[in-house]
Amino acid sequence: MVKVPGMEVWGLILVVMVSVFVGNGEAQTKSLLINCGTNSSVNVDGRRWVGDLAPDNNLTPSSLGVAASTDTCSGDTTFAQLYETARIFPGSLNYTASLNQGNYSVRLHFYPFSFEKYNTNESSFSVVANGLKLASQLNVPGEISHKNSYFQSSGSNSSSFSMIKEYFLTVDLGLLVIEFAPTKGSFGFINAIEILSVKVGGTNSVLNLSGWGIEATYRLNVGGPEITSDQDLDLWRTWEVDSSYMFTANAGSEVHNSSNITYASMNDSVVAPLAVYETARFMSNTEVLEKRFNMSWKFEVDPDFEYLIRLHFCELFYDRANQRSFRIYINNRTAAENFDDFLDMVSSKINTLWIQLGPDTTVGASGTDAILNGLEIFKLSRNGNLAYVEKFDSTKSSAGSQTSKTQILWVSCTWAV
Ligand SMILES: *[C@@H]1O[C@H](CO)[C@@H](O)[C@H](O)[C@H]1NC(C)=O
Ligand SMILES: *[C@@H]1O[C@H](CO)[C@@H](O)[C@H](O)[C@H]1NC(C)=O
Ligand SMILES: *[C@@H]1O[C@H](CO)[C@@H](O)[C@H](O)[C@H]1NC(C)=O
Ligand SMILES: *[C@@H]1O[C@H](CO)[C@@H](O)[C@H](O)[C@H]1NC(C)=O
Ligand SMILES: *[C@@H]1O[C@H](CO)[C@@H](O)[C@H](O)[C@H]1NC(C)=O
Ligand SMILES: *[C@@H]1O[C@H](CO)[C@@H](O)[C@H](O)[C@H]1NC(C)=O
Ligand SMILES: *[C@@H]1O[C@H](CO)[C@@H](O)[C@H](O)[C@H]1NC(C)=O
Ligand SMILES: *[C@@H]1O[C@H](CO)[C@@H](O)[C@H](O)[C@H]1NC(C)=O
Ligand SMILES: *[C@@H]1O[C@H](CO)[C@@H](O)[C@H](O)[C@H]1NC(C)=O
Ligand SMILES: *[C@@H]1O[C@H](CO)[C@@H](O)[C@H](O)[C@H]1NC(C)=O
Ligand SMILES: *[C@@H]1O[C@H](CO)[C@@H](O)[C@H](O)[C@H]1NC(C)=O
Repeated sequence: MVKVPGMEVWGLILVVMVSVFVGNGEAQTKSLLINCGTNSSVNVDGRRWVGDLAPDNNLTPSSLGVAASTDTCSGDTTFAQLYETARIFPGSLNYTASLNQGNYSVRLHFYPFSFEKYNTNESSFSVVANGLKLASQLNVPGEISHKNSYFQSSGSNSSSFSMIKEYFLTVDLGLLVIEFAPTKGSFGFINAIEILSVKVGGTNSVLNLSGWGIEATYRLNVGGPEITSDQDLDLWRTWEVDSSYMFTANAGSEVHNSSNITYASMNDSVVAPLAVYETARFMSNTEVLEKRFNMSWKFEVDPDFEYLIRLHFCELFYDRANQRSFRIYINNRTAAENFDDFLDMVSSKINTLWIQLGPDTTVGASGTDAILNGLEIFKLSRNGNLAYVEKFDSTKSSAGSQTSKTQILWVSCTWAV
C-alpha cells in the first residue's frame, strides 16, 4: 500500500530525491551547445547552438569528416533548424571539451538524412565518453523505426523522425572526450551535442553513483501534453506524452490543476518543471464500486541492466490530500510498500518493464484511486558499459547470469497554503 505523500512524509521524499539525483538546485554554471557539421550557429529552443567549426566553439572535432546538410527537416518543430546539418564520419571522430570537474548531462541529437553517397539507413557506430561505453553498433534509423512501430502496435499515431540520447556521467580530469567510431565498413553521423553541468549525489545517497554512468531512457509527462525543452528551463529536458506507452490507453482519466501547486522546497524545478505536476492520470471509474483495473505502462528495456524509476506525484484534487492509498507493481510484483523501497527483480532477461498502479483492496472503495503525474526510467551502467547490441532480436537469449534490479524514487509537490 502506498499513501500519496502529503506534508508529513515530504521530508523523507526530499531526502531520497535530493540525495540521489539533484542537489540544491544551483543553476548549471556551464553548458556547451554544439551544432554539428557547420561553422554557423543557430538559435533554437531559446538557446544558442554554436557550430562545431565556429571559431568560438568549445567542443572541437578531431577530424572533419563530411559536413552534411538538408533543406527539408520534417517532423520536428523545436529542433528543425538544428537538425539541418550533421557531421558524417567515415572514420573515427573525437569531440573534446575542457570542462571543470563535475557531473554532466550529455545529450546526443540524431536526425537521420541521406547526403551524397551516405545513406544513413546503413550507418552503424559506437560512442564512448571518457571510457564509458554509451552505444554500440548504433543504427539510428533502425531505432527510430522500431520505436514508431512500437507506438503503432500500441494504437498510438505518434511517430518520430529524430532521436535524442541522454546520459549522465562524471568528468574527473577536466577533459571530456566523446569518441565516435563507425562499425567496420560503415559510417556514423551526429547532428548536435548538448553538455550541461548537473548536480548529482550527496551525503545521503541511497545509491553511490560515483563512477557510474546513467542513461535517461524514458521521461513522460503523465496525463498531459508533451513538454518541450524550452518549457523546462533548468535542464532543458523533453517530456513525452505517456499514452503511447499505456497498455490500455483509456484506463485512467486525465486531470489538470495548476492552481497553487508549488515545490516543497525552493527550486526543485531541476527535478521536474511544475508543468509535470499540473497534469496527472488517475483512476476515475467512480461508478464502479470495485475498481478492478490497473493503470499500466509498458516499456522496452535492455536486459541485464539495473534501472532506476522515478515517479512524480502531486495531489491535484484538493479534498483528497493525504487520503490516497494505492499499490504499485513493477513487472506484476508489488513494488512499493515504502517510499524508499528497493526491489530486486527476479528475471535476468527481462526486456519489458511493466509499471502498474492499482487499487489497494484492503481499504474501502474511496481513496484507492491511483494517481501519477510523471515517470522517468534511468538505466545504470554495468562495468563501464551502457550499450546493448542485440536490442531488436528478441529470439536471442542474452548471455550472462546477472540479474536486473529496479529501484523506485519518489518525488512530490506540495500545496501553497
Ligand atoms: C563558413 O563556411 C562557409 C562555407 O564553407 C564559408 O563560405 C564561410 O566563410 C565560413 N564562415 C566562417 C565565419 O568561417
Ligand atoms: C580519441 O580519443 C581516444 C581517447 O583519448 C584516443 O585513444 C583515440 O586515439 C582518439 N581518436 C582519434 C581519432 O583522435
Ligand atoms: C558527482 O556525483 C557524485 C555522486 O554520484 C558525487 O559524489 C560527486 O561529489 C559529484 N561531483 C561533483 C564535482 O559535484
Ligand atoms: C531508409 O529506410 C526507410 C525505412 O526502411 C525507407 O523508407 C527509406 O526509403 C530508406 N531511405 C533510403 C535513403 O534508403
Ligand atoms: C492522432 O490521434 C489523435 C487522437 O487520438 C488526433 O487528435 C490526432 O489528430 C492524430 N494525429 C495524426 C497525425 O493523425
Ligand atoms: C562511492 O564509490 C566510489 C568508487 O566506487 C568510492 O570511492 C566511494 O568511497 C564511494 N562512496 C561512498 C559514500 O560509499
Ligand atoms: C492559493 O494560495 C493563496 C495563498 O498562497 C491563498 O490565499 C488562496 O486561497 C489559495 N487558493 C486556493 C484555491 O486554495
Ligand atoms: C531559486 O531560483 C530562482 C531563479 O531560478 C532564484 O531567483 C532564487 O533565488 C532561488 N532560490 C533559492 C532558495 O535558491
Ligand atoms: C484545484 O486546486 C484548487 C486548490 O488550489 C482546489 O480548490 C480545486 O478544487 C482543485 N480542483 C480539483 C478538480 O480538485
Ligand atoms: C494489477 O496488476 C497486478 C500485477 O500485474 C495484479 O496482481 C493485480 O491483480 C492487478 N489489479 C487489478 C485490480 O487488476
Ligand atoms: C504482467 O501483466 C500483463 C497484463 O496484466 C501481462 O500481459 C504480462 O505478461 C505480465 N508480465 C509478466 C512478466 O508476468
